[in-house]
Amino acid sequence: MDKYIPVVVIKELDEVDKILLALKANNINCAEITFRTAPAAEAIKIACEKYPDMNIGAGTVISAKQCEEALAAGAKFIVSPGLSVGVANVCKENNIPYYPGCVTPTEIMQALELGITTVKFFPANIYGGLSALKALSAPFPQINFIPTGGIDRGNIEEFLAFDKVVAIGGSFFVKEALEIFIAK
Ligand code: 3PG
Repeated sequence: MDKYIPVVVIKELDEVDKILLALKANNINCAEITFRTAPAAEAIKIACEKYPDMNIGAGTVISAKQCEEALAAGAKFIVSPGLSVGVANVCKENNIPYYPGCVTPTEIMQALELGITTVKFFPANIYGGLSALKALSAPFPQINFIPTGGIDRGNIEEFLAFDKVVAIGGSFFVKEALEIFIAK
């Protein structure tokens, strides 16, 4: 899986090119386009058509209906801030990776019951950061984490150094890529 998962918020469709080109220029070939704005599904469709080499997924997917819309638009993976059994079922039927947000042992046990072994840990900074991940890994050595929320250039390396961290999510990848891209 991609090591960096930029959390992308598209307010206007013309931002799709601007953001994805900046990410690509920064050697990032993945984008999680979030369902927290109205054009999300359309943005995913455009992104998948124009950037077929990129791993385009949908984020902030909080219902089975949104998940179906995201998959119809071409999303290759689905991320939620929490765990939705409805979303998990749609992903399973379509053989699409689902990364639900899990921060407690109970949520991780629910994920395991659904056959999920990679979860988003969100908001990572609020729920105990790296020390919480290490504590959770003791009873759940089979779980891989995607910490997201409050991660930036200053703390990314310490998360990546932990072997149960398989990827990092965050909006800072977009901010950083745009700054570099515009400066070029
Ligand atoms: C998300 O939905 O995953 C978060 O908004 C990302 O958090 P960040 O903006 O702190 O990276």
